[in-house]
Amino acid sequence: MLQLKEVPRPEPQGNELLIRMRATSVTAGEVRLRKPDPFAVRFAFGLTRPKYPILGVVVAGVVEAVGANVTMYKAGDEVFGSAGMTFGTYAEYVCVPESATLATIPHGMSFEDAAAIPFGGTTARWFLKKGNIQSGQRVMIYGASGAIGTSAVQLAKHFGAHVTGVCSTTNLEMVRLLGADDVIDYTMGDVSLPEGTFDIILDTVGKSPFQTCVRALKEDGKYLRVVHMAPADIIRGIWVSMTSRKKVIGGVITETADDMAFLKALVEKGELKPVIDRTCILEQIPEAHAYVELGHKKGNVVVTL
Ligand SMILES: NC(=O)c1ccc[n+]([C@@H]2O[C@H](COP(=O)([O-])OP(=O)(O)OC[C@H]3O[C@@H](n4cnc5c(N)ncnc54)[C@H](OP(=O)(O)O)[C@@H]3O)[C@@H](O)[C@H]2O)c1
Repeated sequence: MLQLKEVPRPEPQGNELLIRMRATSVTAGEVRLRKPDPFAVRFAFGLTRPKYPILGVVVAGVVEAVGANVTMYKAGDEVFGSAGMTFGTYAEYVCVPESATLATIPHGMSFEDAAAIPFGGTTARWFLKKGNIQSGQRVMIYGASGAIGTSAVQLAKHFGAHVTGVCSTTNLEMVRLLGADDVIDYTMGDVSLPEGTFDIILDTVGKSPFQTCVRALKEDGKYLRVVHMAPADIIRGIWVSMTSRKKVIGGVITETADDMAFLKALVEKGELKPVIDRTCILEQIPEAHAYVELGHKKGNVVVTL
């Protein structure tokens, strides 16, 4: 259960930054961790009580103080990125190592907009790199309207791909405006895809039809699955990878400061725009979790602090 509490302000250690948080995001990942879904995450993040009691991974704020060994940042720097798997960004202050997935916020960008970039951006980049995306390829983004989907559409366009976005009727226009060349409305019935068409199919929400997608791949196409796969799909994926040149790829992303430097550069070039569904304040995080859990947000739900 989420509760608002007064806690002591953290003190930065030698290699840490103390960040005064100005905005964060409620992400689908945090919702799954809180539930937990799958239950097995309890083994890593606390069986009887949360190992990290303050949730939140997305950072957008101002460096308040730095530890004695910090060289890359100074007090007053505006930074955005990810606190990683030690969490703690649903708070007014958080300490993170200076080597964390961080960059300075692009000039003129608001903290709210900055908080809408890291989660979707780093995940989309990791998976598109796994798919070895190349200019001129045909890429489908299944679930093109969420945090990862809206980033993936824009990143795939940046890499020079021809992009097809799959989303519901209300999001078709938004996904087109983000750069998708074609859009498919999944609410119009089973999505039928022409065989042998796509170099990459990136499913951000775990809703794509497995066999249809495998058939829709080109001979050496990649089917990228962001959401953990059911055991049957893992077995089917291994079978596909063993019996053809197609690959089914899942996994948990890793992220570095290089990802944030890359995303920052795209924001500065106007190639990556934040998509914000709604904003709320710290006290409203429980309601924000309930909303995100419905699985229909557009882009990001941002928290201002
Ligand atoms: N593997 C990893 O390391 C990793 C890293 C980060 C996140 N994740 C996981 O990635 C998942 C997605 O995260 P997210 O933040 O992008 O999710 P999200 O923003 O909550 O996704 C919501 C979007 O999904 C769309 N959607 C729902 N049902 C759909 C369907 N049947 N077909 C197509 N689109 C559909 C919704 O559009 P409509 O409203 O139009 O339906 C909505 O825009 C989460 O489960 C998260 O835990 C995994």
